[in-house]
Amino acid sequence: MPSTNIEYAELASNGKPIDGRALVRVLIGPPGAGKTTLCEHEGWRFGTCLSLDAARADLGAGAHDQTATPAAVEHVELQAHALLAAGADVTIDATSTTAAERSTWLAVAKEHEAAAVAVIVRTPLETALARNAGRAQPVPEAVVKLFGQRVALLSAADLVKKEHFSRVWACTPPERASLRSVPQPWDGLARR
Ligand SMILES: Nc1ncnc2c1ncn2[C@@H]1O[C@H](COP(=O)(O)OP(=O)(O)OP(=O)(O)O)[C@@H](O)[C@H]1O
Ligand SMILES: [Mg+2]
Repeated sequence: MPSTNIEYAELASNGKPIDGRALVRVLIGPPGAGKTTLCEHEGWRFGTCLSLDAARADLGAGAHDQTATPAAVEHVELQAHALLAAGADVTIDATSTTAAERSTWLAVAKEHEAAAVAVIVRTPLETALARNAGRAQPVPEAVVKLFGQRVALLSAADLVKKEHFSRVWACTPPERASLRSVPQPWDGLARR
């Protein structure tokens, strides 16, 4: 029985079973979509969430210090390799709105024969813009719009056929007051 009110829709699949393989979930969504918030609520079934913002904050001047991105990506790659080698699932918490960005995580998954799952966080652009504007350090509005447009144009079929994701899921997280999840080890969504 589902233990959360976040509903995932499967948009595309390569048809191969995932059974027994570790999962690399790649979140996709513009700033303010609620990816990190989703990780906080879904962490119990997302495996270990690795945040590019957190790595940039550790290695650079702050979460949005783009000059720290190469080092942050390398750091998160190493963490993901170590976790997958130990048999854990990982979720990559970053905007990942371009194929080039996603290819990094697909390569990590491939090396461990893990299944890569794209999780598109489909928060309405207006909501993402409003949430971003309310932050202490908002990213430029134009960036939220550009990234939101890229997400709107994504093709689930392309993510599977061209980028070689095993599955593509989409979800629209509800308002925080309605976000809840209770760990249920038997939940069918833990590994699919
Ligand atoms: N479901 C929600 N209901 C209400 N507020 C939310 C929800 N999800 C996120 N927020 C708020 O919106 C803001 C952005 O959320 P969050 O940091 O999770 O976005 P993000 O997708 O991780 O953005 P970024 O890509 O910049 O890291 C935060 O202030 C957060 O508290
Ligand atoms: Mg975030």
